[in-house]
Amino acid sequence: AAAEPVEQDLAGLSILISAGGTREPLDPVRYLGNRSSGKQGYALAQVAAARGAKVTLVSTVDLDTPEGVDVQRVETADQLREKVLGAAVDVIIMAAAVADFRPARREAAKIKKTFDPAHPDDAPTITLVRNPDILAQAVQARGTADWPVLVGFAAETGDAGHTVLEHARAKLARKGCDLLVANEVGEDITFGKDTSTVYLLRADGGPEATVGPADKRQIAAAVLDAVRDLITVRRS
Ligand code: CTP
Ligand code: CA
Repeated sequence: AAAEPVEQDLAGLSILISAGGTREPLDPVRYLGNRSSGKQGYALAQVAAARGAKVTLVSTVDLDTPEGVDVQRVETADQLREKVLGAAVDVIIMAAAVADFRPARREAAKIKKTFDPAHPDDAPTITLVRNPDILAQAVQARGTADWPVLVGFAAETGDAGHTVLEHARAKLARKGCDLLVANEVGEDITFGKDTSTVYLLRADGGPEATVGPADKRQIAAAVLDAVRDLITVRRS
């Protein structure tokens, strides 16, 4: 039987989605990375394309290319930044886990275990520098314009002072994006898993929503519903 036709409710929209964790090189063979699998970003790209959007997926990982999606590979936050800030699109969804810091130096040659023959038991100290905050720069570049719609993701853990939701509300206010998708993370939750629970927080004061536990495809659909609703409000 033919597959059920998907409603083309995102037709005419161009969407850039970032996916995966950035890799910040230390030397030609090593990098600082994180546990992001990229699955949520790929699910977003797949669902958005199926619903008629023109989708560019800027990715640090090699998962199967979703049908109809233009995939562009990057490694570092700096490379991702160039793609994101250089894009002329209606919507930017920052699902990537961007490293906050990178090694200050990328050594041209592999770092050797014994790097100072006078002190054979020494270990090197790696100095880090801050990476650009891509989402914050996109917010700044937009200024007072309505476009592009900007969506952030936040992986949060609760702590003694605040719940996951409290951290997420503060982050939404701090970031200045239109929508924040927050999920709780921990050793056993979310990373690399196929299901999770997320909160959708809107900057326009619209209702907060909880989605899940649901698979990443269902979460993607709910995020894209929220984006579509924001755009409907913005255009009216
Ligand atoms: N982000 C970004 N550039 C960075 C860091 C994060 O664009 N250098 C984006 C992420 O892609 C995500 C959002 O900002 O959409 C929130 O990322 P997160 O790491 O949760 O926020 P931070 O502001 O880095 O705060 P912290 O890590 O201290 O919680
Ligand atoms: Ca961060």
